[in-house]
Amino acid sequence: MKMKKKLVFIGGARPNFMKIAPIIRQTAKLKKFKNIIIHTGQHYDDNMSKVFFEDLAIPKPGYFLKTGSGTHASQTAKIMLSLEKIFKQELPDLVIVVGDVNSTMAAAITAKKLGIKTAHVEAGLRSFDMTMPEEINRIVTDSISDMFFVTERSAVKNLLKEGKRRDSIYFTGNVMIDSLFYALKKLKTRRAHFGTTDLKNKLRKYIYLTLHRPSNVDNKEALLNICGILGKAGKIYPIIFPVHPRTKNRLEKFKIKLSPDIHVIPPLSYTESLFIWKDAEAVITDSGGLQEETTALRKPCFTLRNNTERPVTVTCGTNILLNAANRHKLPAMLTGIKTGSYKHGRIPPKWDGNSSKQIVKILRSTI
Ligand code: UD1
Repeated sequence: MKMKKKLVFIGGARPNFMKIAPIIRQTAKLKKFKNIIIHTGQHYDDNMSKVFFEDLAIPKPGYFLKTGSGTHASQTAKIMLSLEKIFKQELPDLVIVVGDVNSTMAAAITAKKLGIKTAHVEAGLRSFDMTMPEEINRIVTDSISDMFFVTERSAVKNLLKEGKRRDSIYFTGNVMIDSLFYALKKLKTRRAHFGTTDLKNKLRKYIYLTLHRPSNVDNKEALLNICGILGKAGKIYPIIFPVHPRTKNRLEKFKIKLSPDIHVIPPLSYTESLFIWKDAEAVITDSGGLQEETTALRKPCFTLRNNTERPVTVTCGTNILLNAANRHKLPAMLTGIKTGSYKHGRIPPKWDGNSSKQIVKILRSTI
């Protein structure tokens, strides 16, 4: 009997879970592979972690590490120490890391030092902004990985420029969109009642807001400025704001009071979040994932950042970047939406919900 090939999937923080889920669903169908899921515990609150596993039907992790929060060095080190033991014991044929969080980089370094082949899903994205911890994670992970699955052409270009071999780069599309279509279908087939259903029905026309980047929330002046602009935006459409623990903490620490037009709620599950934003008039965000998801559903998106590592959402999609100097234009742009004047965008190539199938097809023939 042939031995199964062991695939290790690393999930650590909220944005990882929707990326591993569709790939795991595909590999689970094949006798060739044995899936080993490791949750690093970088995110640990139920609403940042557990609900995503349930929501996206990810099997219970084989390993749950109790990493928790901390400085970047301590978080990364803790993850590496735990993973080293597991990798030595399990001897995986491939470690699959996704995205750009500390868990991604920690797993890639640990695997490669043990001589284990590593694949990076969502490789090659670059903001060219080294003040972003995620940019460092992306560069380190890509500099040592063996296989690169990319979401957009800019990433192919970046990897080639950095000296990667063309035959190690696979333009397979965006697994986030696989998860998006999966959840949309589920929402359509069952009449869901969520904790936020009443708020959604009451407001009818509203904006969906997420905010958690250190550059926006860790500095009091920056956060005060953003909250002032959001107060004005809230006069045009009320805002629904599921607040990330980092942001909640900073709002409390800086004693910032939000306008009453901003409805603050706890973080939402993946499906409930989609349930709200898919019917919003627009999304205001600094998240990476929402820039892509709004482009896929052609929903207006305003990104409060100076740059994006996902340029296709701007060149092709509905995304508009608003840097610190341009943020004041946000209320006027929201008024534009009332009259139908906004960027309608197009769907980027290969964002069709079949990305995980493409990835697994490649894994079948190479691993
Ligand atoms: C991390 C990722 C970021 C991603 C984001 C999504 C890195 C460098 N950053 O940022 O790329 O967009 O996740 O959420 O990996 N906390 C809780 N409960 C939790 C998790 C965090 O209360 O379950 C609080 C803690 O106070 C913690 C803070 O949030 O110190 C920040 O968490 P951390 O994992 O360090 O970074 P994120 O800002 O979540």
